[in-house]
Amino acid sequence: MKAILLEKPGQFRLLEQEAPSAPDPGTALVRVRHVGICGTDLHAFRGEQPFFTYPRILGHELSVEVIATESADPSLAVGTLCAVEPYFDCGTCPACVRGKPNCCLNLKVFGVHIDGGMREFVHIPTSKLHPSTSLSSEQLALVEPLAIGAHAVSRAQLTPHERVLVVGAGPIGLAVTQFALLAGAQVTVMDISEPRLAFCQRLWPHIACLHAHGDALALLQHEVGDDLPPVVFDATGNPHSMHAAFSYVGYAGRLIFVGLFQGDVSFHDPDFHRRELTLLSSRNANSTDFRRVIDHLESGRIDIAPWITHRTTSDTALESFLHWFDSKSNLLKGVIAFAPTGETL
Ligand SMILES: NC(=O)c1ccc[n+]([C@@H]2O[C@H](COP(=O)([O-])OP(=O)(O)OC[C@H]3O[C@@H](n4cnc5c(N)ncnc54)[C@H](O)[C@@H]3O)[C@@H](O)[C@H]2O)c1
Ligand SMILES: [Zn+2]
Ligand SMILES: [Zn+2]
Repeated sequence: MKAILLEKPGQFRLLEQEAPSAPDPGTALVRVRHVGICGTDLHAFRGEQPFFTYPRILGHELSVEVIATESADPSLAVGTLCAVEPYFDCGTCPACVRGKPNCCLNLKVFGVHIDGGMREFVHIPTSKLHPSTSLSSEQLALVEPLAIGAHAVSRAQLTPHERVLVVGAGPIGLAVTQFALLAGAQVTVMDISEPRLAFCQRLWPHIACLHAHGDALALLQHEVGDDLPPVVFDATGNPHSMHAAFSYVGYAGRLIFVGLFQGDVSFHDPDFHRRELTLLSSRNANSTDFRRVIDHLESGRIDIAPWITHRTTSDTALESFLHWFDSKSNLLKGVIAFAPTGETL
């Protein structure tokens, strides 16, 4: 079977692997249908992912078709399309036992810590398959990044009409925005990138989009006055933005770090205390977030199609990556159709 291997930073290779074996009990053999590309893949390609080891088969945003399973669950019958929850937890560590498998101490993210889905067939634990009988395989491949946003918004426990600022309009910030809007919040989005803001404004013409150039706090105050938003999500992964985000939160507000980076973030304690702020982090997503995203997609409350800016197939992926991973490509979400040449998806 065909697989795309990231041999080392900057170098992908198409290779032939052995045909897959029959699935073990508790797992399914699935055929990969679509693979989404995100910042994590980009950082792995550029060699900027500190915990990454090479060679590695990437691919953690996946839709798959069930080929074989011992499971008697009728919702996972052969031929069913599913989204994959790529966070493989151990089920026994203190975090898992406490009902937080997204924080598992032994977490293996498929396509990050272990080889992932950029190949024709893989084995997936059946508990990590989320089926849908009505969604397309392109839609199902994008459930994972949406689930990150769904989880972050559930951490914030928004109330209807609450004012929310989302800093960073990449796929993750947009996913947060989407779920904040579904929760009935009034959302403002801020970014330093005009193309990203323009994209966001096209998705939601009614929300305020702020171009954060120069003094971002002054800009925000100019927009909202002195009554700063009670909820701020930072989805930038930029330490300067994460530091500055403390000053964007109104009295008794919540700051949620969805974006992350490998380092320390500091804040001025008197400002933090004076406003009695709450700082929250959000990590990955849980099965309930995946099901919620699928429900919203199935009902049409979320339309993911406009998010896909780039498409390719497994046959042309290596060539496409050369353009996609260029900073000038304006990639928001790229999707690879992964199926034998000539087969209709
Ligand atoms: N919590 C999780 O489980 C989880 C999961 C996936 C990704 N992430 C993280 O979320 C972050 C965002 O991911 P993404 O794929 O959307 O990344 P991205 O790079 O596509 O988007 C980040 C956006 O932030 C903007 N930005 C950067 N600095 C800024 C600043 N100072 N002020 C305002 N905007 C600024 C950029 O212009 C960009 O549009 C990354 O740190 C990523 O690692 C977290
Ligand atoms: Zn991703
Ligand atoms: Zn665990």
